Amino acid sequence: MKNRIVPSAFLFSFLLHAQLFAQLLLPDPEVNGDVSVEEALLVRRSTRAFIDSEPLSLNEVSQVLWSAQGITAYNWLRTAPSAGALYPMQIYLVAERVDSLSPGIYRYLPDSNSIEHIASGCFLDAIAKASLEQMWMRDAQAMVVIAADFDIVTDVYGSRGVRYVYMEAGHVSQNIYLQCVSLCLGTTAAGAFNDEAVTAILRLPDEEAPLYLMPIGR
Ligand SMILES: Cc1cc2nc3c(=O)[nH]c(=O)nc-3n(C[C@H](O)[C@H](O)[C@H](O)COP(=O)(O)O)c2cc1C
Repeated sequence: MKNRIVPSAFLFSFLLHAQLFAQLLLPDPEVNGDVSVEEALLVRRSTRAFIDSEPLSLNEVSQVLWSAQGITAYNWLRTAPSAGALYPMQIYLVAERVDSLSPGIYRYLPDSNSIEHIASGCFLDAIAKASLEQMWMRDAQAMVVIAADFDIVTDVYGSRGVRYVYMEAGHVSQNIYLQCVSLCLGTTAAGAFNDEAVTAILRLPDEEAPLYLMPIGR
C-alpha cells in the first residue's frame, strides 16, 4: 500500500510543478500610458529595422499581448471587438530576446494573463525564410503571431463568419501597432508567408490558421 502511495504522490507533485513551469503569469498591464491615442495614430508606422539589440522586458511583452487579447470586462470581454464575442483568435509569442524568458514559442492565455510554453528554441530565422525571405524579421526581439480557429465563428455565422475572422484579425493587429507606439517599440503586420511552413514551425493545432506575423523590436 505504502509503495503505491509514495510513487503516486511523487507523480502528482511532479505534474503539478511541470504545469506551473509550463505556464508563466505575466506582469499586470499598465492602463495609464503616457501616449494619447491621437499621438499613437499620428506616429504609427510599419517598422522593419530594429536598431537596438537589447532584450524586451517581460513588462513590454506582457503589455503587447494584453493589447491583443487581454480581458477588460466581466472576466470575458477583451481589448479587441469580436463578432458575437466568440473570440476565435489565438495569440502566440515567439520570444528570441526577452528578459526572464527562454527563447521559444508561447501561447497567450487571456483568462489568466499568462503564457504557456509550447516549444524551446530560436525560430525567427525559420519564420523569416517561410515569409518569402523577409529576413528583416530576424532582427526583431520577438514576434507576435495572430492565429484563428475559423470553426468557432463559422459554426455560428456560416460562411459569413470567415470575413468576421479576418476583420477581427485587423482589430487585434491595430491594437498591437498602437500599443507598440506607446511603448516606443516598432512592428509590422506581415501577411506574406507560407501558411503550411509557418503552421509547422509554430506547431499550431489542426484547427488553427496563422493570419498575421508581427515582429516586435526597438
Ligand atoms: C494585410 C496586410 C499584409 C501586409 N503584409 C506585409 C508583409 O508581409 N510584409 C511587410 O513588410 N509589410 C506588410 N504589410 C504592411 C504594409 O506594407 C504597410 O502597412 C504599408 O506599407 C503602409 O505603411 P504603414 O503601415 O507604415 O502606414 C501588410 C499590411 C497589411 C494590411
